[in-house]
Amino acid sequence: MINKVTFYDTTMRDGEQTIGVNFSIDEKIEIAKGLDDYGVAAIEAGFPAASQKDFEEVKRIAEVVDNAKIVGLARMVRNDINAVIEATKDAKHPMIHVFIATSPIHREFKLHMTKQEILDKIKSDVTFTKQYIQDIVFSPEDATRTEPEFLVASVQTAIDAGATMINIPDTVGYDTPEEYGEVFENLRQNIVGFDAVGWSTHTHNDLGMATANALAGIAHGATEIQGTINGIGERAGNVDMIEVAAAIHVRHEKFNVETAIMLPQSKALSDMVARATRMPVAGNKPIMGRNAFAHESGIHQDGYLKNPETYEILKPEMVGVTASLPLGKLSGSHAVMSKLNHLGYDITRDDMAVVFPIFKSIAEESDLITDEQLKRIMQSVAEKE
Ligand code: KIV
Ligand code: ZN
Repeated sequence: MINKVTFYDTTMRDGEQTIGVNFSIDEKIEIAKGLDDYGVAAIEAGFPAASQKDFEEVKRIAEVVDNAKIVGLARMVRNDINAVIEATKDAKHPMIHVFIATSPIHREFKLHMTKQEILDKIKSDVTFTKQYIQDIVFSPEDATRTEPEFLVASVQTAIDAGATMINIPDTVGYDTPEEYGEVFENLRQNIVGFDAVGWSTHTHNDLGMATANALAGIAHGATEIQGTINGIGERAGNVDMIEVAAAIHVRHEKFNVETAIMLPQSKALSDMVARATRMPVAGNKPIMGRNAFAHESGIHQDGYLKNPETYEILKPEMVGVTASLPLGKLSGSHAVMSKLNHLGYDITRDDMAVVFPIFKSIAEESDLITDEQLKRIMQSVAEKE
């Protein structure tokens, strides 16, 4: 049986916690519409109690989005919960995300609460919330550094009080994929009514393991991925949803799950978020980096021209990108000839015996050879003839 995995976007909440990022209302509306078209199941549009601006943004997005659930974040504080209830009330599908930290370090130094006080708070606040909103995500913050038995007790309390989705945050990006998978395994074995609720991953990238961890969650029973576009977020960021969706697509035989994500819209959405955050995507970033489908060395270019699958595991069009063969010092004559043909030169292999050494001598002194430089090379060859 093929299971479905849904995506829950938090670009405009956890993503907005990126240093220097502050979306305008128009940017948020544009991104929310883009995400809705992309096929995400839920959009966490902000933290309504944090500011009047966040409140208004969640409210406006709730009014304009057609399909995705609209979510507001709340601490387990009545004022926060009431702000989300009010901000999402006009959404077609309102949802609330309530969280409280459960790990020893947060209990002792941040919350100054005992385990029992935390369980009581979860019970009373989820029960209170349920009177107003049916769809409740509960997060035990810092879940991956919480004692396994206490994590089970916290999550069970939230489910019994009416939570419909349990989110497991690896808040500080600490776990390895094996450990994160084990957290889900432990919950699967010990939670009564595990299959009656949804389970989401929420992974941070502090040690560069966010994507691997999200995929480990899927392999161990998670049904939803929480993440952001371009992996923006607090510190080293959240998991990049585009990477996870692409991995599920490329390795479908391994994960055996389906998503509703419209992958070809990835590039447009990534560009939109890069513009709004003023944070260009790194050139070597998986999937959306400008080098992700670019092949420079002669061996790779030659293989690619014979069959793109020699060096490409994903068709670039699948994520809205065009492949490129930039010409540089390592490029071979096959790629240079192919580019010249593309530029309209009717050039043979014999001609290349003259052209290629000139190309090579210039390329060794340059970063990349532009179309204009190639045209000048051809002109100089023609003038010598
Ligand atoms: O990383 C985290 O723990 C969070 C919570 C608010 C769920 O973002
Ligand atoms: Zn987070």
